[in-house]
Amino acid sequence: LQRSADNLRSPICCIMGHVDTGKTKLLDCIRGTNVQEGEAGGITQQIGATYFPAEKIRERTRELKADAKLKVPGLLVIDTPGHESFTNLRSRGSGLCDIAILVVDIMHGLEPQTIESLNLLKMRNTEFIVVLNKVDRLYGWKTCPNAPIVKAMKQQSKYVQNEFNMRLTRIIMQFMEQGLNTELYYKNKEMGGTFSIVPTSAISGEGIPDLLLLLVQWTHKTMVEKLMFSNEVQCTVLEVKVIEGHGTTIDVVLVNGVLHEGDQIVVCGMEEPIVAKIRALLTPHPMKELRVKVRFL
Ligand code: GTP
Ligand code: MG
Ligand code: NA
Repeated sequence: LQRSADNLRSPICCIMGHVDTGKTKLLDCIRGTNVQEGEAGGITQQIGATYFPAEKIRERTRELKADAKLKVPGLLVIDTPGHESFTNLRSRGSGLCDIAILVVDIMHGLEPQTIESLNLLKMRNTEFIVVLNKVDRLYGWKTCPNAPIVKAMKQQSKYVQNEFNMRLTRIIMQFMEQGLNTELYYKNKEMGGTFSIVPTSAISGEGIPDLLLLLVQWTHKTMVEKLMFSNEVQCTVLEVKVIEGHGTTIDVVLVNGVLHEGDQIVVCGMEEPIVAKIRALLTPHPMKELRVKVRFL
């Protein structure tokens, strides 16, 4: 199969940031699910994954009336934990993604694992978008469910707008201290050396259309070559576990190529290579979190 711009794979996007900045909640907001509330202590402790088909992204960005013509079939989003003890999982997540979302709590600014995540992304030269989440916590915020952020911002009082601008400026300064230029995405026309910031609320959905549109436009603009589907299997193992009724299962992210039932696979073991045959292939439903093990396709 010839690699071509008409046959792209889904970009893999990793969501990273300090604990409790709202990474899982943002995905819940897009999925229309409630995964976060089911987590022990409200803390993510594993890598998660969700597939967002192109049509769902198109629906969610419609209000922006922008060119959301999607050439990619969808977007695979990897959720990572923000708790300090899971550096290894953040490293895995950032290692297998094409792009990343770095989530910052607008009320807290940059925190230790924000900076750690930032350094992981810098190390691998991974492009990312900054999400400034929890804008609904600005005192006096008027909720505009799922509205594009510019529209939502226009609904706010001068007082709220001032507080927003003050916090934004402070956070831009904090990024500058880390050696990074950042700017609100709608003021950042270049998409070059300056990283884009998207304000959001994972509770009421403001800014979510903007985030999705930006992710898609940006992958089209900067990585078509990298996203051309290739027949050569490229697959990363996330987790190995025994599931009742299925025996030993491995969670994988299939980046390129095709897997079939009956295929022989070789994976790295602790002592030696493990040779196995694929007995069954299961995929979570679109818009469902991999970690919630119910009814796979
Ligand atoms: P870890 O995965 O444990 O690092 O946390 P996380 O970044 O996934 O954050 P999570 O989604 O668990 O959200 C943490 C808390 O913040 C929860 O109580 C959420 O309800 C709350 N929260 C998340 N996003 C928002 C938001 O936009 N606005 C408000 N008001 N609360 C939010
Ligand atoms: Mg989480
Ligand atoms: Na959390």
